[in-house]
Amino acid sequence: KEKLQVAIDGPAGSGKSTVAKIIAKNFAFIYIDTGAMYRAVTLYAKINQIDYENEEQLSEQVATISLTFVPADPVQRVILDGQDVTEAIRSEEITNNVSLVSSYKKIREEMTERQRQMTEGASVVMDGRDIGTTVLPKAQVKIFLVASVEQRAARRFKENQTKGFRVSLEELKDEIILRDYKDSHRLISPLKKASDAVTIDTSYLSIDQVVEKISEIIKTRA
Ligand code: C5P
Repeated sequence: KEKLQVAIDGPAGSGKSTVAKIIAKNFAFIYIDTGAMYRAVTLYAKINQIDYENEEQLSEQVATISLTFVPADPVQRVILDGQDVTEAIRSEEITNNVSLVSSYKKIREEMTERQRQMTEGASVVMDGRDIGTTVLPKAQVKIFLVASVEQRAARRFKENQTKGFRVSLEELKDEIILRDYKDSHRLISPLKKASDAVTIDTSYLSIDQVVEKISEIIKTRA
């Protein structure tokens, strides 16, 4: 049976990972969170006391970084050089520096290569910024999720409350705007809708409604 690739891209907080996980579960596809990979590389810099600005050193070392996803309920774990960093990669410091680290050519090349390898022989749902444009240009299903910045900040705010992070709604809004700006304006594979992607505005849709819309599209292509 033909393997299916579902690429879900979009700006920060548009609901990509939430719906990607549900879809992967429902269709029994592998889920690959590419944002987690760039976050893990950023955390690697912090742990190894490499300045986030030090593109040269990070580029030299990226191939040696061990990065794996381990299936677990309710969320898969992210393992960086043998350490479970699932929660650590979500900190404010990592969130605010990941756009810089992910802009480096060598880092993107290495992660793109690894992401493609992970799809071999499997049907996958992959979420990120450049999946439909660069990583999986032949994906049968390409979705571009968008939502108003107010809605996205409000979602992050709620998420943060459950994690005990204290950042104001205004600050979150500014962070999201800045991160989207950096992600959309970098030189190499910026955040951009693939020409053959379907845009879904999630501002006024429930998670179930977004899942439903994407599932319908998957069924027509499967
Ligand atoms: O999806 P998430 O918000 O966890 O992604 C964190 C960051 O990783 C993004 O803001 C972006 O800088 C980078 N990223 C990327 N390409 C991807 C996925 C994420 O550059 N495919």
